Amino acid sequence: MNIVVIGTGYVGLVSGVGFSELGNNVVCIDKDEKIIDNLNTGIIPIFEPSLEDLVHKNMKEGRLRFSKDLISEINNADIIFIAVGTPRGKEDGEADLSSVFSVAEELSKNIEKETIVAMKSTVPVGTMKIIEKIFKTKSNNKIIKTASVPEFLREGLAVNDFMQPSRVIVGSNYPEVHSTLYELHRPLIKSNKNLYFQTDTQTAELIKYASNAFLAVKISFINEISNLCEKIGANVEEVADGMGLDKRIGRWGLSTGPGYGGSCFPKDTLALIHTASQNESPLRIVEAAVSVNDSRKAFVFSKISEEFNNDLRNKNFGILGLTFKAGTDDLRDSPSMDLIPKLIEYGSNIRAYDPQGIDEARKKLEGPIVWCKDIYEASENVDAIIFMTEWSEFDSKNIDFNRIATLVKKKIIIDFRNMYKPYDITSLGFDYISLGRKVSRSID
Ligand code: UDX
Repeated sequence: MNIVVIGTGYVGLVSGVGFSELGNNVVCIDKDEKIIDNLNTGIIPIFEPSLEDLVHKNMKEGRLRFSKDLISEINNADIIFIAVGTPRGKEDGEADLSSVFSVAEELSKNIEKETIVAMKSTVPVGTMKIIEKIFKTKSNNKIIKTASVPEFLREGLAVNDFMQPSRVIVGSNYPEVHSTLYELHRPLIKSNKNLYFQTDTQTAELIKYASNAFLAVKISFINEISNLCEKIGANVEEVADGMGLDKRIGRWGLSTGPGYGGSCFPKDTLALIHTASQNESPLRIVEAAVSVNDSRKAFVFSKISEEFNNDLRNKNFGILGLTFKAGTDDLRDSPSMDLIPKLIEYGSNIRAYDPQGIDEARKKLEGPIVWCKDIYEASENVDAIIFMTEWSEFDSKNIDFNRIATLVKKKIIIDFRNMYKPYDITSLGFDYISLGRKVSRSID
């Protein structure tokens, strides 16, 4: 099939490349000239494992192109996917749909043949209805058929999630659109027809938001259980493992941490709450998840502060991990980006290291920060090392803690991802502070 994908962010680029890998002819469009110029020379705008290889392969095999010129491409397409950004709007968490609507206007004026327009961006419930109205009133002869095809990929695992989806949700009110989109996704769902879930556009839109909100609730839930564990002396990792054994619950989402971040959970929970309140149907559980996640930031800070008797003046901290999770260079709503300015405000100095996020972080943060090339440089003369992101580079098998012990000023490790076994750290002479587990003092 001939496919046009509008928007080369995470969702658009991964989907476009993925559809070309399945054998379709794909053109990815973006109005940002620099992004398109770079993509045309094989440089991709995001860090995403194995994506670059797939871009090169499919460009070379002639199935994947990049262009700035939307209008000259759309009338060759069987399906057009809209995958432009829907960032958090100014007020009340309402999503900013200006890019989505401006693309819809442009399509409605320029599409001249029967085409399917499918929404991949995460848009609030009811958005496709508005877009259908734009198409019906403005396009020449009502030839555009719409669908909502939300994307569930995770950053860092995006290619894998695209190629092996947990489900393909397609909302459309046109039976013929379902047959075409089923055909397009058939190589992904292989023999399991149940993975293709057919519904109407409003329901598809809500499935996306409700899924993200549910996962955010799960994370905030374990973070509160983690706090309780600290009070009663239980071990949150074992609580999560024990709960996760129940298949109805599952282990994913039960890893306590510094709070969820990224491009989806923070934005989508707020947008869903906004939709709910507009419809006078409050989602109190989601509201609680957001408020628990907000308070996580203060909790992380106070845990560090308490360790230093609430005096952080002239303390040096090695911050390991800047991105909102491992496997990505994305800093959006990352707990580190909240913590570092606060530590600086209270008089501390920072040595920061991240395997992927340094370049972006350098542009966003200022103050007494030394940007380091590795974990050892970030450990020099610090009062504590603080782990914020669970990079595999930080696995105990990949770190020489004995070397770190010779570099630091004070042997304190604060681990907001529970990456280590307490004894492994305390036996090397460090104090070890983690989440939802007892503070373990050095056994030196
Ligand atoms: C998420 C959804 O998983 C994906 O389906 C959707 O399409 C986009 O949003 P992503 O934002 O890439 O994907 O990251 P994810 O791996 O889900 O993690 C989100 C946040 O939750 C991260 O900050 C992560 O550290 C945190 N998290 C996740 C936890 O704190 N504990 C967990 O157990 C899992």
